Amino acid sequence: MSDMLVSMTGIDKAFPGVRALIDCQFDLRAGEVHALVGENGAGKSTLMKVLTGVYQKDAGHIRVKGQEVHIANTKAAQDMGISIIHQELNLAADLTIAQNIYIGREPRKYFNLLLDEREINEQTQQLFSRLNLPPMNPRTLISELTVAKQQMVEIAKALSFNAEVLIMDEPTAALSDAEINDLFQIIQQLRTNGVGIVYISHRMNELKQITDRITVMRDGGYIDTVDTAAVTIEQIISMMVGREIYQSSKALKLDEDLPNVLEVRNLNRGRVLKDISFDLKKGEILGLAGLVGAGRTEVARAIFGADPIDSGQLSVAGKSISINSPYQAVKQGIGYLSEDRKHYGCMVEMDVKMNIAMASFHKFTNWFGWVNEKKMIQVSNDVVKALKVKTPTIHQEVKYLSGGNQQKVVIGKWLTKDCEILIFDEPTRGIDIGAKSEIYKLLNELAEQGKSIIMISSELPEILRMSHRIAVMCEGRITGILHRDEATQEAIMSLATQRSA
Ligand SMILES: Nc1ncnc2c1ncn2[C@@H]1O[C@H](COP(=O)(O)OP(=O)(O)OP(=O)(O)O)[C@@H](O)[C@H]1O
Ligand SMILES: [Mg+2]
Repeated sequence: MSDMLVSMTGIDKAFPGVRALIDCQFDLRAGEVHALVGENGAGKSTLMKVLTGVYQKDAGHIRVKGQEVHIANTKAAQDMGISIIHQELNLAADLTIAQNIYIGREPRKYFNLLLDEREINEQTQQLFSRLNLPPMNPRTLISELTVAKQQMVEIAKALSFNAEVLIMDEPTAALSDAEINDLFQIIQQLRTNGVGIVYISHRMNELKQITDRITVMRDGGYIDTVDTAAVTIEQIISMMVGREIYQSSKALKLDEDLPNVLEVRNLNRGRVLKDISFDLKKGEILGLAGLVGAGRTEVARAIFGADPIDSGQLSVAGKSISINSPYQAVKQGIGYLSEDRKHYGCMVEMDVKMNIAMASFHKFTNWFGWVNEKKMIQVSNDVVKALKVKTPTIHQEVKYLSGGNQQKVVIGKWLTKDCEILIFDEPTRGIDIGAKSEIYKLLNELAEQGKSIIMISSELPEILRMSHRIAVMCEGRITGILHRDEATQEAIMSLATQRSA
């Protein structure tokens, strides 16, 4: 067919101990959005890495516009007009936005000797405005950006290649609703221009909104390709999981008389946190809602001692405390699952077992520092089983796990730790729909055991379903705390956009 941009057939790919792809196929037409879905570890990212020259296939054929091609490396893919936004952000933290976008192809001046900073900064600004992305200062360092903003930079970068094929591996995982809408508009515009888009996402409701076709993968195998209009989301889910999924029960009732385990009073930090006060009860799940940039992560980081505060008081179990470092926070029984797992969440060079044991090492060492390897192995195996982490063994290095499975390992780490207060920042980001409900179940169980949880999430249905109360933030303030009976999407959105005069 003439409008077929890409066709992959019979693709096999194995890693030591893992058959990641078995006889997979996929094709992409010009001007379509083609979703690639499947559970964590199904092989989605791997298939797209084969198409973009990150990995070499063991068997199979790839055709680009009808011609069989060999894609030797990522540069070769780019030259063929194939561009990818990777699931794990790939930006250099200590370079600027502009430097990241034009890395390796910077315009130079003075006989090629000097990097033309002014030129790339200008080009970056033009690129952002051409794509209708919110303007950012091109000189800002990546390390100063939130995950959502970094994601925007990745998108701009991928689009700067003028690709005909654009692969988006979970582009919306770190975005809030407003930003997702902007992204969808960009996608529509690209589609009209004839760009073929591969769209990987665990957010099922997005599929109906923007995709034309859906390909389903399971356990490294190809299941089917269908027209989006011809199926229901329920049908897609059952093709993905091939079994019934656990329907999480409604959120638990909370005894209003239970004591506060955490009291936060008048936290202030520069312009990011303004007079933050709230209580967390024993056994409560407190949702923290708001738009990206509202200050939710900053609240978590302040409580966890990761950022210094200007003023304010914290008390844990009725005792006033001061927390100046994450180490002190952990000693007070506070755990924090960061939204940025790549930097704070896990050590990707270490294996699954070490990552799980890391935060609670004292549990596995006796008084003269001897590590009880056997116990560590047993606990790790339990976590892997409970969270259904897809890994050949617990001795696998975490960097070889799929994105969603890395996230499960980080969650497992904090579950093992036995904290009284757990702060989960976007815990289900990148997690497939089956595993999500397993995590909801675990959070409910923790709350039932009397642990207290602060859950930050950009997915309103998730916040509504899980929380006893919901604190909503806007521009560094808490604009309201809703009881679960009065909380609706509309009520939350209204508080989330309630700017102070
Ligand atoms: N470099 C590698 N070495 C070893 N195993 C790997 C490597 N890359 C991927 N795998 C394994 O291949 C399988 C498929 O992984 P892949 O990342 O493609 O999954 P995915 O469908 O993208 O999942 P997710 O939704 O979690 O991102 C997984 O079992 C993963 O652990
Ligand atoms: Mg993936």
